[in-house]
This record gives sequence, C-alpha cells and structure tokens, in this order.
Amino acid sequence: MQSTDSPVAIVTGASSGIGKSVARKLIEKGYRVHAAARRTDAMADLATLGARVHHLDLTKPESIDAFAAEVLAEGDRVDVLVNNAGYGFYGAVEEIPMAEARAQMDVNVFGLAHITQLVLPSMRRRRSGRILNVTSIGGKIWSPLGAWYHASKFAVEGFSDCLRNEVRPFGIDVVLIEPAGTATEWPGVALDNARKVSGSGPYAPILDGTSALFTSEQGQQSADDCASAIVRAATVAKPRARYATSPAAHVILFLRWLLPDVAFDGLINRICKIPKRIAI
Ligand SMILES: NC(=O)c1ccc[n+]([C@@H]2O[C@H](COP(=O)([O-])OP(=O)(O)OC[C@H]3O[C@@H](n4cnc5c(N)ncnc54)[C@H](OP(=O)(O)O)[C@@H]3O)[C@@H](O)[C@H]2O)c1
Repeated sequence: MQSTDSPVAIVTGASSGIGKSVARKLIEKGYRVHAAARRTDAMADLATLGARVHHLDLTKPESIDAFAAEVLAEGDRVDVLVNNAGYGFYGAVEEIPMAEARAQMDVNVFGLAHITQLVLPSMRRRRSGRILNVTSIGGKIWSPLGAWYHASKFAVEGFSDCLRNEVRPFGIDVVLIEPAGTATEWPGVALDNARKVSGSGPYAPILDGTSALFTSEQGQQSADDCASAIVRAATVAKPRARYATSPAAHVILFLRWLLPDVAFDGLINRICKIPKRIAI
C-alpha cells in the first residue's frame, strides 16, 4: 500500500519485458513507481496497479527534461532509479546508417546518463539513493553484428564504474545489472533491425549463422526472474557493484574471463557458424 511516505522509484522501459516486471514488483513492495516509455498505452496495467505513467523518448533531450521535471514536481525524492530502457540495433558496421548508430547510443548511453544527471541532485541532497543501470553480458563480451549494441553496453559499464565511486561519498549506490538472454521483445527487435540492414548483401552469411542466437530459448531467463534479481539489488542493504542475473550469464562471463581473445573469438564464430571466408 503506497502513502506519501512511500519510497519512490523510476523505471524506464516499463512498457514491456524486464522493465514492466520490475515496475510491477516495486509497486508490490510499496514503492511509488514512475513508469516511463514511449508506448504509454502498454503501461495501462501498471497505472491500474498505482504507477504514475509517463511518456519518455530517450532519443529526445527535451522529452527527458520534461519527464524528470514531472517526477521531481511530485516531491524532491527518488530512492531508486532503474535505467532499464534499451534495445539492440544489430547489423554490419558498414551497413548501419550513422543516424541509427547515434540513436542506439542516445537511448542506451546518453539517455541513461541524462536522466541520471537530472535525478542526482535530489539524491545527493538527501544523501541517499540507488541507481541501477541495466547493461548486459554484452557489456563484457561481443556477438556477431552487434558492434553498436556492444559499444553502448561497454560504455555503460565504464560510465557506471566511474559514477559508483564519484557518488559513493554522498551516500548513493550505483549498481550494474548484467542479464544474458531473457524472454522479452528484445531479441525480435534486434533481429528485425539486423535483417533490415544486413539481411542481404555481403554480410548476409554472418546473419544467417547468427539468427539462431536471437531465436534460441536455450539458457533463456524469464523477464520475471531477471526483474526479481533487479529488485533484490534495489532493496538489499549493501548492494554489490554488479549482478549477473542468470546461470547462463555467470557461465558466459566466466568463459570470457578465462579464455584469451583468440579462443573466445573461435568459440563465438563456431557457435554462430560464421564462414571463414565470404565471397565479395
Ligand atoms: N532480453 C534480453 O535478452 C536482454 C539481455 C541483456 C540485456 N538486456 C537489456 O535489458 C533492458 C530491457 O530490455 P528488455 O529485454 O526488457 O527488452 P524489451 O521488452 O524490448 O523492452 C525495452 C524497453 O525499452 C524501451 N525503449 C526502447 N527505445 C526507447 C526510447 N527511444 N525511449 C524510451 N524507451 C525506449 C521500450 O519502450 P517503448 O518502445 O515503449 O519506448 C521498452 O519498454 C535493455 O537495456 C536491454 O538491452 C536484455
């Protein structure tokens, strides 16, 4: 049951998948939740549960400013910020239009950083707050045709490591969340984007082999299980710096740590059946 004393949480990307489940679980725990995404209709269920629903387009700085102003106008308090919104624009570097590459970085990196910047003064004044940045095992490993997605998630890893130490003296925690494959809209969006730009042409044989990565359910975690890990990280007394959210995530990160680049490259190339040579 929420009251004016209830802790306040922001969840971006709450219109589907992991973010929607995190928002629901935080409401159940008594948080006043600000749920944000472009598809406000898709958050009607959260509004029914008591969430405050906001339109947010992370490619537009003015949308981010307006969103933060709406949240802070309701009280100068944010206890938990879950920077979850994100997507994959997969495809070959040669073929992805730079506008799409910039949009990928805008949503996954600059949008996350912009909201964080707007919420920090309130957390700092209250000497309390927790920021959870949803990256991916893709912030530590590569996958075929994922250059811009991985660039964005590697960036969030470095950004968060710096930020964690910058704001610790003010009583603010920064936590990285590293899921592996999770059953949401994400794989379909990433594969559609890859097909759009690299479904034919010189890189198509790489996409042919890689498609299975997006459609396979092997080792996949449910959005609810991933959300439970995030909510635990949001509410535990002393959070760790980063959480891998599934057994598959732990195994893959262990292999990345163990194997030299040449062996890890070979492993991924074999799994994705990437041809050794492609005709021009
Ligand atoms: N699913 C996986 O396998 C997986 C694995 C590792 C990491 N992750 C990460 O987990 C996070 C959540 O993804 P998910 O799996 O839950 O995928 P999802 O179901 O596709 O949800 C993505 C969310 O991001 C929002 N979003 C996308 N573009 C946006 C924009 N321009 N402005 C505002 N919001 C935007 C979407 O809302 P609207 O479209 O309504 O705006 C949606 O709510 C992402 O950061 C993703 O990279 C996912």
